Amino acid sequence: MLKKKLLFGLILLIFVSFRSVAVEGMWLPSLIEKNIEEMQMLGLELEALDLYNEDGTSLKDAIVRFGRGCTGAFISPDGLLVTNHHCGYGVIQSHSSVENDYLTEGFWAASRDEELPNPGLTITLLVRMENVTARVLETIDPNMDERERNRAVREISRTIADEAKEDGRYEAMVNPFYYGNEYYLFVYNIYRDVRLVGAPPSSIGKFGGDVDNWMWPRHSGDFALFRVYADEENNPAEYSNDNVPFIPDHFFPVSNRGPEKHDFTMVYGFPGSTQRYLTSDAVKYIVESENPMGIDIRTRVLQIYEQEMAKSDEVRIQYASKHAGVSNAWKRWMGENRGLHRLDAVNVKKELEREFDQWAQSGSMETELYRGLMQAFEQYYTEYLPNRFAMRLYFEAGRRIEIVRFAEQFAQLVTLSSEKNPDQEKIDVEIEKLKRSAESFFRNYNSDIDRRIMAEMIRQYMKYAGEMVPPVINDLQSKYDENIEPFVERVFKRSSLVSEEQVMELLENYRPRHYRRIERDHAFQFARELRSFVFGEIMPAQQKYDSKLDSLYRLYTAGLRVMKSDYNFFPDANGTLRISYGRVEGSYPRDAVQFLPFTTGDGILEKAAQNEVEDYRISERLETMLENRRYGSFANHDDLVVNFIASNHTTGGNSGSPVIDGQGNFIGINFDRSWESTMSDIMFDPEQCRNIAVNSQYILWVISQYAGMDYLLDEMNIVLE
Ligand code: ARG
Ligand code: ASP
Repeated sequence: MLKKKLLFGLILLIFVSFRSVAVEGMWLPSLIEKNIEEMQMLGLELEALDLYNEDGTSLKDAIVRFGRGCTGAFISPDGLLVTNHHCGYGVIQSHSSVENDYLTEGFWAASRDEELPNPGLTITLLVRMENVTARVLETIDPNMDERERNRAVREISRTIADEAKEDGRYEAMVNPFYYGNEYYLFVYNIYRDVRLVGAPPSSIGKFGGDVDNWMWPRHSGDFALFRVYADEENNPAEYSNDNVPFIPDHFFPVSNRGPEKHDFTMVYGFPGSTQRYLTSDAVKYIVESENPMGIDIRTRVLQIYEQEMAKSDEVRIQYASKHAGVSNAWKRWMGENRGLHRLDAVNVKKELEREFDQWAQSGSMETELYRGLMQAFEQYYTEYLPNRFAMRLYFEAGRRIEIVRFAEQFAQLVTLSSEKNPDQEKIDVEIEKLKRSAESFFRNYNSDIDRRIMAEMIRQYMKYAGEMVPPVINDLQSKYDENIEPFVERVFKRSSLVSEEQVMELLENYRPRHYRRIERDHAFQFARELRSFVFGEIMPAQQKYDSKLDSLYRLYTAGLRVMKSDYNFFPDANGTLRISYGRVEGSYPRDAVQFLPFTTGDGILEKAAQNEVEDYRISERLETMLENRRYGSFANHDDLVVNFIASNHTTGGNSGSPVIDGQGNFIGINFDRSWESTMSDIMFDPEQCRNIAVNSQYILWVISQYAGMDYLLDEMNIVLE
């Protein structure tokens, strides 16, 4: 036995030294035992229970979901939390104004009293997870149709989750895995008092901006610091002055050793979603229809944003976050398309489907279930894809018009008010809700931008809608064709929803009979007509298609796992806690090009020398410090290592995830992937896929040397070895 293990290790070692060892997969921590041997071969010195343990402390206790879409990690016993600058971006922006521009200047709380509260921001900690497949499937009858099945699953999931909540002490939910072949319960603790401690200036935290986004080489200090507060018993509590710093069950020691080539790495966090099992038809559709449409439309949106943002500082701040968001997926889709082409993904999928189909036809009892499945997929996609495209178009073009999104919110008020006997109490509640929403909407709203966006988005809608065109768009097309501006002008001139004053006035003096005024509002009418098409025609069909889709993929993933029974298929990311692993390593992205795994402070200066690139501008202070190579005690081989790449399978949501070394130390924070990796949501390529992290030494350097906030380092456990 031992001999066999040794031999295996030797072979792996030889293999490891010459080839990339990236491992596809985002694994459930409670099942990590299955991977632990491979992880240890790659350099992990811990055991499965050190990573995840419900009966004791483990690394998982130091990992949180940050807000809705990111991850974060505890790095001190006093609840100090590190995540990405881009994850805290909205929050940092919300504290910023032209006078106090924390986006540009950075923010550092000089003491705990100066930390800034963030209502609405939550930190979610996993308490435990449990395989509840048997209990869920018990309630399902194989004769149920998909709708009945969904209902049954929903019901039993709610029951299971409710039990786990222990009278409101926890949050809980049951998630499907492998399209409903398996189910797991997740029990969470949610903390609501989360304060901003520090954020570097954007010229560090977002260095390279959208120019460098999704790209290697990268030089970004994409981190921000928060602190979680709890009540005296260390339990979750609403924000209060009396709260005290939360004491996590575990926090990561922070490495000041510096990453080395081929070091083991593990990324522990909350990846959002992957689509690893898509069939060839779906991939073809994404590559040929959905991505090109999205890229084209967003190119135009970005152009308008950029022209308007260049005109004033106020608009620049107002639209910074929106711009970053639109640009992010835009660029990802381009990379994804290139990667899928390069991997010949459609044909690779087709090949697998042929194999699957042959296997299904083999005539054994075991495979009988799967016969005809591939044909069913084909037929299904022929019907479904036009609908899906119409849905995507509504989100890309229709809802990109901000006033459409805002006006939609008044629908409920109209419904309530137009009832025979309007319920004043409900109306009052609705009015309050709308007031709050209006306040936040107008804080970052510029009607000049939106007017241009509206005209352009209507044109795009006309261009792409094809057969499934909303009547309102059709009407506009026959009336105005492409010269839609007069219509848009009229909407903006006549609508009272485009100005904060008028909206507030309407809400302050609102009487139920005023609903007619809203109904007649031009912006409201346009939004309502779009929406009634989408909700009346597209959505219902979509729901029907979606459940059918689940049933096909449920069978497919189950079949694949039988057919390739020696392969460990990972369940698609679904926002639940996962572990990916690999090692620090570069890659060969193109002919004659090699990616080295590290970037340095000198690289920042190199980029900053390109004066014409706004995203590369840095402060004089940073420039001087880097020029003088003032690296303090945070250098690695005499260089300040800024970012590194490693071969961990990650996706959106992994931002802010700690990158952990073989001993369980925090060596960096994950924030991106290289452009050559972005197809990894659909197809992983061990040779190309690299995640990008900020080196922990650079984080320490910025906090200590750049910002002078050594008190923060004092509360950490900094390790050199
Ligand atoms: N691409 C990274 C991720 O998907 C970082 C995005 C933030 N940075 C930016 N320049 N937009 O979220
Ligand atoms: N930047 C992404 C995030 O925000 C991570 C990724 O997609 O690689 O989660």
